[in-house]
Order: sequence, then C-alpha cells, then structure tokens
Amino acid sequence: MRIALLVVVALISIGLVGTALAVPPGKTIEFPAGAMGKVTFSGKVHADKGLKCMDCHTKIFPMKGPGKEGSAKITMADINAGKFCGTCHNGTKAFAPKDNCAKCHKK
Ligand code: HEC
Ligand code: HEC
Ligand code: HEC
Repeated sequence: MRIALLVVVALISIGLVGTALAVPPGKTIEFPAGAMGKVTFSGKVHADKGLKCMDCHTKIFPMKGPGKEGSAKITMADINAGKFCGTCHNGTKAFAPKDNCAKCHKK
C-alpha cells in the first residue's frame, strides 16, 4: 500500500517535470479493441466522478512506465469476470458492459 502510493507520487512528479506521459486525469488512453471499435479511457471523466489515483493504481492497473501507457492486456472476458475496467463496470459501481457496448466502444 505504502509502496503503491510512493510509485503514484513519483509518477506525478515525473509528469510535472514535463515528459510526454499519458497521465490521467488530464489525458486519455486508447485501446484498439478490434472490430468492436476503439475504447477511449478518459482520465478526466473518471476524476470528475470523484475517483482518486489510488482507486485504480496500482491494484487494478499496475504502473509500467513511460511509453507503456495503454499496454495493459485487457480482454472483454476479463472485464466481464470483474477484472480491469470490470472491477467497477459491473452494474454496481458503474454501468455494466451488457447493453452498454457503445458507451465504451466507438467506431
Ligand atoms: C478509473 C481508473 C483510473 C484512475 C482513477 C486513474 N488512472 Fe491512471 N490509468 C488508468 C488506466 C486504465 C491506465 C492504462 C493502463 C495500461 O494500459 O497499462 C492508466 C495509466 C496511467 C499511467 C501510465 C501507466 C504506465 O504504465 O506508465 C499513469 C502514469 C497514470 N495512469 C497515473 C495516474 C494518476 C497520477 C492518477 C490520479 C491523478 C490516475 N492515474 C488515476 C486508470 C486510472
Ligand atoms: C467499460 C467499458 C467497456 C464496455 C461497456 C464494453 N467493453 Fe468491450 N472492451 C473494453 C476494453 C477496455 C477492451 C480491450 C481493448 C484492447 O485492449 O484493445 C475491450 C475489448 C473488447 C473486444 C475485443 C476482443 C476481446 O474479447 O477482448 C470485444 C469483441 C468486445 N470488447 C466486445 C464488447 C461487447 C460486445 C460489449 C457489450 C456487450 C462490450 N465490449 C462492452 C471495454 C468495454
Ligand atoms: C475505480 C472504478 C472504475 C474503473 C476501474 C473504471 N471505471 Fe469507467 N467509470 C467509473 C465510474 C464511477 C463512471 C461514471 C458512472 C457511470 O457512468 O456508471 C465511469 C464512467 C465511464 C465511462 C463513461 C464516460 C462518459 O462519457 O460518460 C466510460 C466510457 C468508461 N467509464 C470507461 C472505462 C474503461 C474503458 C475502463 C477500463 C480501462 C474503466 N472505465 C475503468 C468507474 C471506473
């Protein structure tokens, strides 16, 4: 827990020094997602819902360092099983995948 916090703090400082980090909440990360259409994760949308860095990092999404943003290997099966985005997008904390494909996938 302590170490995770330090990692996040360190990454924030790196971001402030001005490297081209794709860092939420100000940035977005795109996942290709194949024929369903790409999925854009918006840091701002999530920050505006009151979510803090620690809600996602590093338990749900580990930090892998500059240049590796968006490299998490996410599958729809994982999400439906309550992992990655599905930790929250399960119909309880946030909208569930079922009937909401187009909220995440845009052609
Ligand atoms: C709702 C979940 C969520 C919240 C809240 C969130 N992030 Fe992220 N963040 C992500 C996702 C998803 C990625 C992409 C992960 C991947 O593909 O490996 C990411 C990626 C990153 C990366 C690049 C990761 C890497 O591997 O180098 C940094 C840096 C980062 N976030 C910093 C932050 C900071 C700082 C905050 C708080 C201000 C924050 N994040 C809040 C979900 C979140
Ligand atoms: C909460 C956001 C979200 C919702 C809602 C969502 N998806 Fe996804 N989906 C993703 C993400 C993220 C990926 C991984 C993309 C990547 O890594 O390229 C993905 C990947 C996929 C893939 C690529 C292959 C695979 O199995 O991983 C398919 C197909 C897919 N989704 C179908 C669907 C369908 C059908 C629905 C509606 C029933 C849906 N998705 C709803 C976020 C979502
Ligand atoms: C820590 C919890 C959490 C995680 C993890 C998370 N989300 Fe969300 N997300 C939320 C909440 C809360 C909302 C707003 C409530 C709602 O719309 O149901 C939201 C809203 C959204 C929206 C709606 C944006 C809009 O325009 O209204 C999209 C798209 C989305 N998330 C995609 C994703 C994707 C893709 C991932 C994984 C890469 C992800 N989320 C991971 C909690 C989370």
